[in-house]
Amino acid sequence: MALFSKRRQFCLVFGICFYTAVIIVITWTFKKDTVVKIATKSEMTVNPRSHNYLPKGRRRIVIIGSGPTALGAVQRLYEFQQELNNTEVIVLEQRGQPGGLAVSERDDQGFLWDMGGHVIFSHYSYFDQTLDRAVPNWNKHVRAAFAYMKGPDDKRRFIPYPVQHNIHTMHKQDQEKSLSGLEEITNNPPVKPPRTFDEWLLQKFGKGLCEVFMRKYNKKVWTVDTTEMNSVWVGERVAVPNATAIKDKIHKANSGKLAKDSEWGPNRFFRFPRYNGTGGIWSSVAKLLPRSWFKFHEKVIEIDVDNKVITIESTRNQNSLSTLSYSTLISTVPLDNFVGFLESKDSSLERMKGITAQLVYTHTHIVGIGLTGQPPDNLADKSWMYFPDSDSPFYRVTVFSKYSKDHVPHTGEYWSLMCESAEPIRRNMLNWNQTNVVSATIEALVNYGFITTDMIVSKYYRRLDHGYPVPSLKRDAILKAVQPWLEAKDIFSRGRFGGWKYEVGNQDHSLMQGVEVVDRILKGVPEETYADPNRVNSQKNTGRVVHAGLKDYEIVVAHYDESLDWVKSYADHAHVYHKGTNTSAPFEMYAWEKLPNVGREGHTYLHHIITHYNNLPNVTIFLQAAFRFHRGFCHRNPLRYISSARAGIPCIHPDELVVRKWGKLKHVANFKQDRKAGLMRVTALTFGEFYRVLFGAPPPKDGMPHCYCGCFGATREMIRKHPLHVYQKAIAFMNDHSNPEEGHYIERLWYWMFLNS
Ligand SMILES: Cc1cc2nc3c(=O)[nH]c(=O)nc-3n(C[C@H](O)[C@H](O)[C@H](O)COP(=O)(O)OP(=O)(O)OC[C@H]3O[C@@H](n4cnc5c(N)ncnc54)[C@H](O)[C@@H]3O)c2cc1C
Ligand SMILES: *[C@@H]1O[C@H](CO)[C@@H](O)[C@H](O)[C@H]1NC(C)=O
Ligand SMILES: *[C@@H]1O[C@H](CO)[C@@H](O)[C@H](O)[C@H]1NC(C)=O
Ligand SMILES: *[C@@H]1O[C@H](CO)[C@@H](O)[C@H](O)[C@H]1NC(C)=O
Ligand SMILES: *[C@@H]1O[C@H](CO)[C@@H](O)[C@H](O)[C@H]1NC(C)=O
Ligand SMILES: *[C@@H]1O[C@H](CO)[C@@H](O)[C@H](O)[C@H]1NC(C)=O
Ligand SMILES: *[C@@H]1O[C@H](CO)[C@@H](O)[C@H](O)[C@H]1NC(C)=O
Repeated sequence: MALFSKRRQFCLVFGICFYTAVIIVITWTFKKDTVVKIATKSEMTVNPRSHNYLPKGRRRIVIIGSGPTALGAVQRLYEFQQELNNTEVIVLEQRGQPGGLAVSERDDQGFLWDMGGHVIFSHYSYFDQTLDRAVPNWNKHVRAAFAYMKGPDDKRRFIPYPVQHNIHTMHKQDQEKSLSGLEEITNNPPVKPPRTFDEWLLQKFGKGLCEVFMRKYNKKVWTVDTTEMNSVWVGERVAVPNATAIKDKIHKANSGKLAKDSEWGPNRFFRFPRYNGTGGIWSSVAKLLPRSWFKFHEKVIEIDVDNKVITIESTRNQNSLSTLSYSTLISTVPLDNFVGFLESKDSSLERMKGITAQLVYTHTHIVGIGLTGQPPDNLADKSWMYFPDSDSPFYRVTVFSKYSKDHVPHTGEYWSLMCESAEPIRRNMLNWNQTNVVSATIEALVNYGFITTDMIVSKYYRRLDHGYPVPSLKRDAILKAVQPWLEAKDIFSRGRFGGWKYEVGNQDHSLMQGVEVVDRILKGVPEETYADPNRVNSQKNTGRVVHAGLKDYEIVVAHYDESLDWVKSYADHAHVYHKGTNTSAPFEMYAWEKLPNVGREGHTYLHHIITHYNNLPNVTIFLQAAFRFHRGFCHRNPLRYISSARAGIPCIHPDELVVRKWGKLKHVANFKQDRKAGLMRVTALTFGEFYRVLFGAPPPKDGMPHCYCGCFGATREMIRKHPLHVYQKAIAFMNDHSNPEEGHYIERLWYWMFLNS
């Protein structure tokens, strides 16, 4: 069954995307302060724009992008939502879904691909908490990384990574070269600080290792020579490998005395999402944030920094331009592009444009090869591999099928390799277009003996214009000039390419750059990650926690065709399940999903509890869309259920609760009409038996009170009093009919289940 969940899939479904566009136009037409003008491009060029400022006392924080950095910022703003007075948050994303470079995509053959090998490292407890909250299912893997390279004998070998600790697995000549280089730097420790990455490599690894591996490999990844890169980004902590210990290891290996697996350190495991790849993490993180803050398919094309006005082009309709004022701007757009579209009367802007254009970056080409059969034995135990030699375009290949069953159409029958290549800055013989990169990739994989062409069933390709931010010699001087210039104008450019610091450009760093910049903007707390990469990289950072109760409440609505007008006042908290025939939400809200019309409202509520068991808000309010007609049973004010639930009572008219001995009744008596008319699917179980099936105990002898009409609230603790399997058992009874008797039983059970006694 297809779920059209905006909250879950955002704009993957075209119909919903279209609807979002309509809503944006409609709401923005009314909200005069948000959008000053909606015009076509030709009008724009004819008429100078007029600017509308934010009303006095109001603040608007605009975030550009929805990758890990932006999501960190949004999550932090959401945590402090209660304290934000008169502040509005708007996220502008040119694509139709969140995730940025950390998205995943499933190809037509059913293979899933990340945009290059994404491994989760974490230097932060806040990052761990964020992922734990958002993603319930993880696979755990051994980090089995290898270099695959040609020795002086022209034979290729797998060298466990990091290569400097595994010199004993190299060809004898390479061993000697590497070792003598290490001995040289051990005996004559360099005194001068390194000026370039190349000097740093020589000082840390010696001449031999540089020649055998370091220079070749780094050139392939970064596309520039190691002499063109700075030495700041690598940090000071790297210890020179211990030459004596390596000598011992070589000796032991040669005499067959080295324990197998000795290459894996304590940090040998990493976790990976069981479903939907790396992108699944970020869509799940976004799912816990207010949907109405996000505007997808909105590309920023110009910013007037003097008047604080952004010009936006719809990526679905390129003639549709709009403008938006902001108070504070957080940008995760690549810094060179970003500064490129700024406009200002400030004469220093041209200089900023000139220097940001000198930032160096790589273009990454992702080639995913979907294959039938099994990986060959020599790949079966590998997570990923590095390739320093020039006889392949790629610098890294990930055995992606090893990470999760979800990455191939059928496990056991298929496997997959994800290959990453960096387009050389100075173009070589190969014209780096799709045809050539894909065929060069396949040729190398065949040549290396990893695959044969008849195994190939899928060829995925994507080019990332900005792949790696290169720590070039001029980088830090450029950033030191540009960032303060932007900050003086209330603009904070952060993230992998917004901040342009590779050393803090992983997902954990990116998320935290977003979180920390919000702490700085709101509370004046100094940033750590962007300000001091070496420090955050040398420790586990525990200074920030995800505030508990991030989501305070959620209103779950079971809907068929009733009016949803009342929901508008609670749109940011409303999670509507639609069981009718509509294909899109009537207005923007926190979440809108389709469900099959089975099992009455009880099925809806159970479905919600089962899917969100691990990330429930403090209070969940369950209502039928028509609850206001059930006066006397349901309170007219949905928010009234919050205090009631907090007081331990699921529904708020305790006086009106009828105590009945349901346990003794054969069937629910007052539904005789439905039974007689054949509207209800009658069950073989009495209410008491049903109770026993669910809870493994008889119902209370004296009967129990209940809430009528399916309107009630419950705290997270009340819901989690019962294990997940209780809810799963219950829903299994009602998957096959729109009006099963068990639905009526469940309606009578909520109070008792959730009473906090
Ligand atoms: C090949 C590769 C390998 C990687 N490996 C790892 C790894 O192993 N481990 C790890 O932790 N991380 C890894 N990363 C890094 C990870 O992908 C980044 O940390 C993360 O995606 C950066 O997040 P971000 O939000 O800063 O930027 P991005 O992900 O680049 O997001 C920027 C967003 O801004 C949007 N945008 C840009 N311009 C505009 C505009 N004008 N208007 C509106 N929207 C705009 C983009 O569409 C995008 O969604 C890797 C990245 C790459 C490319
Ligand atoms: C926001 O308003 C609340 C109560 O109205 C007040 O206690 C708080 O200090 C305000 N916060 C800011 C940042 O102004
Ligand atoms: C290097 O390794 C040897 C042998 O394992 C050991 O005795 C020595 O203390 C190590 N030196 C350093 C500086 O760690
Ligand atoms: C994975 O993604 C698909 C499609 O976007 C979605 O339907 C499904 O619910 C996701 N699975 C999980 C476990 O999040
Ligand atoms: C790529 O370039 C080659 C020439 O090197 C050309 O034959 C081919 O058609 C190009 N493919 C694409 C998709 O542009
Ligand atoms: C949610 O509950 C937690 C305790 O479980 C509490 O610390 C937090 O303040 C609550 N949040 C809201 C918004 O009520
Ligand atoms: C359902 O869709 C129809 C047709 O677009 C529309 O008229 C109706 O208002 C929608 N109902 C709800 C409740 O969204």
